[in-house]
Amino acid sequence: MADTKKTATLSYEGKSYELPILSPTVGPEVIDIRKLYAQADVFTYDPGFTSTASCESAITFIDGDKGELLYRGYPIEQLAEKSHFLEVCYLLLNGSLPTEAQMENFEGRITRHTMVHEQMHYFFRGFRRDSHPMATMVGVVGAMSAFYHDSLDINDPWQREVAAMRMIAKLPTIAAMAYKYSIGQPFVYPKNNLDYASNFLHMCFSVPAEDYTVSPVLAKAMDRIMMLHADHEQNASTSTVRLAGSSGANPFACVAAGIACLWGPAHGGANQAALEMLREIGTVDRIPEFVAKAKDKNDPFRLMGFGHRVYKNFDPRAKVMKESADEVLDLLGIHNNETLRVAKALERIALEDEYFVSKKLYPNVDFYSGIILEAMGFPTAMFTPIFALSRTVGWISQWKEMIGDPALKIGRPRQLYIGETTRDYVPVAQR
Ligand code: CMC
Repeated sequence: MADTKKTATLSYEGKSYELPILSPTVGPEVIDIRKLYAQADVFTYDPGFTSTASCESAITFIDGDKGELLYRGYPIEQLAEKSHFLEVCYLLLNGSLPTEAQMENFEGRITRHTMVHEQMHYFFRGFRRDSHPMATMVGVVGAMSAFYHDSLDINDPWQREVAAMRMIAKLPTIAAMAYKYSIGQPFVYPKNNLDYASNFLHMCFSVPAEDYTVSPVLAKAMDRIMMLHADHEQNASTSTVRLAGSSGANPFACVAAGIACLWGPAHGGANQAALEMLREIGTVDRIPEFVAKAKDKNDPFRLMGFGHRVYKNFDPRAKVMKESADEVLDLLGIHNNETLRVAKALERIALEDEYFVSKKLYPNVDFYSGIILEAMGFPTAMFTPIFALSRTVGWISQWKEMIGDPALKIGRPRQLYIGETTRDYVPVAQR
């Protein structure tokens, strides 16, 4: 972050204040208001943080108008085509692409951490079988801090590293266990001769009674889903992880908080909600009815999988995801499915509709990911856990960046208080 020597002038109560302007490497300049309250006794108001940079970061950049997403400077389209998920993990965590030797070492370390503590199996058994896998994941990931005491000291860089490796390695195992538990099948241990995505598919879909071979096309599609979801700068769940971490909470607890936030239908829960909406629409002829509901100011209904806080152009992840969806559906010979027909028609209608065009509401990543995941055989309840395991590396990278920053302060927003002023307590008999 560079001080530009430029300032913005704020005039308030007859006085003027010079606020420094900071310049990013790319993106809009930032007015530094850190000293505003001390100098002018005034707060700023920005619910939803639509105009507020909450931190400095060198990890991910989004240009919402261009529809551009960069991980450490590399465009997502190039990474999706040429890289693979574990290489993207290395890149996000370390800032540069690995050499061959670095990649081998990193993969080896992740692979050694894929199993979970055996006692965790009993922990799973405490959940109801019909629990949503996200509920199970919030609990189990939070409980990792009870199982891995030796990586809780956030002031020790080695322990921070081990915690990061553990979470990246174990989240697929935990998500697959949550799935197996929900369908009453035995847990499948990780197989370390498989790549990251294939291992996850194997843990989800194999059973001890039969051999299971992972399709390379499906593994590639899964790996791509993971890459596309790996990080997305200061979104709600990442900001949650940072806020939790700013108090010094351990990384497992912080990631559990991120998972809880991701679950909401306005965020990661949208992939499940989008597919359920497509099913509810059911047939192409019912689309106008749902589009009208989405436009109706008095109806809370929204077209799930459309719109984004930052992208006011096509979500670049959605473009790649759409290509992947076509590949997967071709491989599986799914061409005539009604949900798919509804999805394609809805996409076309929304992209031409004045309401969606004028508000720049394009399909987002969640619109297409559900279609692929369903075709692969995942139930809708597993869509958000897959988002969570993919985003874990982003959460950890952002958490590590924050903890390593000597200027770290506990996150503590202020408020615009609109409640009662001081009043005296009234005994119950007089109320
Ligand atoms: N359907 C219908 N109208 C919409 C939609 C939608 N999906 N999204 C936004 N709008 C309208 C909204 O009603 C508002 O209209 P007006 O200006 O007349 O009041 C306008 O567009 C701006 O919406 P907003 O709620 O102020 O925008 P936001 O930046 O706060 O919300 C969003 C972004 C993603 C929460 C929202 O677009 C949404 O709810 N989309 C559906 C859920 C979804 O697909 N979420 C996944 C996001 S991508 C993956 C991720 O980040 O997790």
